Amino acid sequence: MQTIGVIGAGQMGAGIAQVSAQAGYRVLLADVSLAQAEAGRAGIGKALGRLVIKEKMDAAARDAALVLIEPVENVAAMGDCALVIEAATERETIKRQIFADVGKVLGSDAVLASNTSSIPITRLAQAAPDPARFVGVHFFNPVPVMGLIELIRGLATSDETVTRVEAYAQALGKRVVRANDAPGFIVNRVLMPMLNEACFALGEGVATIPDIDAACQLGLNHPMGPLTLADFIGLDTCLEITRVLFEGTGDPKFRPAPLLIKYVEAGWYGRKTKRGFYDYTGETPVPTR
Ligand code: 3HC
Repeated sequence: MQTIGVIGAGQMGAGIAQVSAQAGYRVLLADVSLAQAEAGRAGIGKALGRLVIKEKMDAAARDAALVLIEPVENVAAMGDCALVIEAATERETIKRQIFADVGKVLGSDAVLASNTSSIPITRLAQAAPDPARFVGVHFFNPVPVMGLIELIRGLATSDETVTRVEAYAQALGKRVVRANDAPGFIVNRVLMPMLNEACFALGEGVATIPDIDAACQLGLNHPMGPLTLADFIGLDTCLEITRVLFEGTGDPKFRPAPLLIKYVEAGWYGRKTKRGFYDYTGETPVPTR
């Protein structure tokens, strides 16, 4: 059985650990402390428990998946991992430090992957122990529900690395798409301009928050309206990725909407701060404008 290392036990890392264990991989889960990694595993236990309650999974399968996930103190434990996936905070300095740390123990054949949503893979590869064995593997939130993984190769990523990570991604039952190392890859290149445009439309008084959301949700058959989705992703994340598109392409069509910037400056990041385009403190979300 292959062992996968997952660095970061937050929403994305925990989701990656969960689907990897459900596919039968042994998973070592690390975060800034053992307590954080254990909290991540506890959250996975709850998520799997909900599947049991809904009769989507039996208790034996839940236990079999959970037993495969081992929280660890730090990345030093990941020496025998075939694949290590970094899903830490989206800050380049943090990721670079993680790569330096994991580089001290990573096997000479092992692959290091990053779940970054916006940092160029070729640039990140400079901090990896071996750029040929470094690749982008972009999951989507919520990981257990979303059926896609984007595979992004940097300039130096080898064919063998791509093939190996593709086999892992397929073993999770996800559809894999290959993207070049261009700003936003595929999904965020297409998605973020739509979310940003919804912010422009709101700022220009085209329609109210609920009407912009209802129009896109029902008129385009999307599961969520764009402002609800922006809150779900995090407005800080949306702004960050939009800036990467703007700066990476130099194209003014990607300039961030002033209202999006304003919300982020106010600390209104969406669901995670309980306030964004909606207020999430009550039972049902209430529009904030
Ligand atoms: N974890 C696990 N499962 C979850 C979940 C979560 N966080 N949230 C919902 N689900 C499951 C539910 O259990 C339910 O499963 P079931 O149908 O088997 O019972 C199913 O998803 C539907 O959930 P709900 O009925 O509670 O709610 P909805 O029908 O409203 O669906 C949603 C919720 C799946 C989040 C749906 O609204 C959706 O798909 N929204 C769009 C999400 C999206 O676009 N994600 C991508 C964001 S972009 C990104 O991640 C890239 C990054 O770089 C920014």
